[in-house]
Amino acid sequence: MKIKTLGVLTSGGDAPGINPCIRATVRSALYHELDVIGIQEGFDGLIRGEMQNLRARDVGGILQRGGTFLRTARCPEFHEPKGQRQALRELNESGIEAMVVIGGDGTMRGTRVLTEMGVPAIGIPASIDNDIWGTDMALGVDTALNTTMEAVDKLRDTASSHQRAFLVVTMGRHCGYLALITGVICGAEVVIIPEKEIPLEEIPTRIEQAYKRGKTHAIIIMAEGASYTPDQVKQALEEGEVGFETRVTILGHVPRGGIPSAFDRMLATRMGVRAVEALLAGETGKMVGLEGRSLVLRDLEEVVSKARKVNLEFYDMAYILAR
Ligand code: F6P
Repeated sequence: MKIKTLGVLTSGGDAPGINPCIRATVRSALYHELDVIGIQEGFDGLIRGEMQNLRARDVGGILQRGGTFLRTARCPEFHEPKGQRQALRELNESGIEAMVVIGGDGTMRGTRVLTEMGVPAIGIPASIDNDIWGTDMALGVDTALNTTMEAVDKLRDTASSHQRAFLVVTMGRHCGYLALITGVICGAEVVIIPEKEIPLEEIPTRIEQAYKRGKTHAIIIMAEGASYTPDQVKQALEEGEVGFETRVTILGHVPRGGIPSAFDRMLATRMGVRAVEALLAGETGKMVGLEGRSLVLRDLEEVVSKARKVNLEFYDMAYILAR
């Protein structure tokens, strides 16, 4: 069947790079003479029938903007058959014949549900967590890493001036990727991630060693999904009398926003174009992934049943280099 009308939606946590991806999807679909409908607020908006026609001008000026101009939501209703049936009704009524869906691992699950209901769909991975199997990088990861790096660099200035230890907590849900890479590129003394247990008592020992080696500050990067709370780590450091006073900074949602980096804009653009081409070539049930420098199509079934693992060689590297 030749597709005439394409729908696009963004779902789950936003990530810098989603807007340039929407732009690329819409404009390449228009180039192929498709009509494009943008669905607002993810699967939630789909169930409520919140849609608008998108023309080239509608996606002008968003290339350099963080967030998603279609807005996004987490949608428990779409996990239920009733919500799924309603979504299908809305798709049929609006004449949408195929979908490009941009988001994280939960969104890829939703995209698979669409294909199971007979709607041709291609997913595009976007999540600052970089926990989606089948792609070296998801949209937003590079920008989030740069934001996190900049924050830690700034904290190091004040840490050094006051001879303090800073515990910096990054997002990442169950995945330590952001914390681990930040630990390497910011020269952290300790990295605490869910994928690699470190005994609580070892944390003050390592910081004390850094103090004794003459360091003027210490940086500890911890992923939100790690097995300790920030308070537990702070307390362990205070009880350990490590030499430094401790301060805690929780970066929270800050790295989720901001101007998408050059890398994210380029990846977003390539992925958007590729998703449209894939649908036009009759593909469905796939996610566009980055493998090395090339884009590949991954089976959504595989994507949703596997998790992307962090490279623990980087964990050892961070430790070796924190001399
Ligand atoms: O999955 C992206 C993410 O930013 C996680 O790192 C974090 O745990 C979660 O979303 C936060 O969710 P919310 O935006 O709903 O608070």
